[in-house]
Amino acid sequence: MTTFLGVDHVGIGVGDADEAIDFYGRHVGFDEVLFDYSGEVPGLEAIAGRTPVARIAMVASSSATPIGPGRLKLVQVLDGAGPPGPPPGHACGEVGVCEICLHVRGVELVHDQLVAAGCRSLMEPTSADVPPAGVTLDIAYVEDPWGTKLELIEWTGLWRSLPGPARAEGVNHVAFGVTDMARTRAFYARLGFDQLLFESVEFFGPMAPWYAAPWYDPGRLPAQHMTMPMSAQGAAIEPCVLDPPGHDCRGAWGHLGPMDFGIRVGNLHSAAARLAADRVESYGAQSLDVGSGEWRYLYFAEPDGNYVQLLEARY
Ligand SMILES: [Fe+2]
Repeated sequence: MTTFLGVDHVGIGVGDADEAIDFYGRHVGFDEVLFDYSGEVPGLEAIAGRTPVARIAMVASSSATPIGPGRLKLVQVLDGAGPPGPPPGHACGEVGVCEICLHVRGVELVHDQLVAAGCRSLMEPTSADVPPAGVTLDIAYVEDPWGTKLELIEWTGLWRSLPGPARAEGVNHVAFGVTDMARTRAFYARLGFDQLLFESVEFFGPMAPWYAAPWYDPGRLPAQHMTMPMSAQGAAIEPCVLDPPGHDCRGAWGHLGPMDFGIRVGNLHSAAARLAADRVESYGAQSLDVGSGEWRYLYFAEPDGNYVQLLEARY
């Protein structure tokens, strides 16, 4: 399965790309702008109902590691009325992208640094281990100034971070809501996510305050079923099923907050052929000149309609 190379990036809708590039560069470690493109973004017609016009900055962390390898794609929609608002009532596990998880060295310090930089704490630093293998981790959550949930994790049972100061590395995983875990697992296993890091059917108590009225009855929280299938390379995915299901939080493409993600492939042409052989509908391979090189990508129909692209990065 060498074609598929794990999650490459998570896309975040932002209101002002300059502010977001500055914030994520200065405070979250994404200090390398791989490209900064403005123009039409073809290949999204089936998802967005038009060819959006957007400014897109792909940013990488110079502290990225093998367990925190992923990038961010900052997207500022420029056409129409500008960036759509975030889906209201988004907790965690509704269909749509829920959160971006960064691998960090020193969860507590990084949490405190981000709070000092203007983020809101959503979960104080704590430690846990996850079934079935009992892998240990340190974890905390903050919300960036525009509402994106940033999970901070140090997988202490998997990887000792490289020496040096406390810092955020790159993206470790992207969480998104789905409605049928078995279907999702089978679908993504064919895209290379075939190693299971954890599976949990317990409600993660520290998330309880996120499930607020009127979207939820705080006295009757939904059950959470989460898994983390990893690919041998790249960042992981964390699909989550709520029971009873939450409302649809995909929102319009480009909405503020986390909203899509990309899976890196070695060769877009052969990866597209794999999708076609598996009868996965896709929306047309694109090649965009982004100044520093070429961004080849292809959006496709994910089982729950989450917004996902395959990409070959030549920048
Ligand atoms: Fe997560």
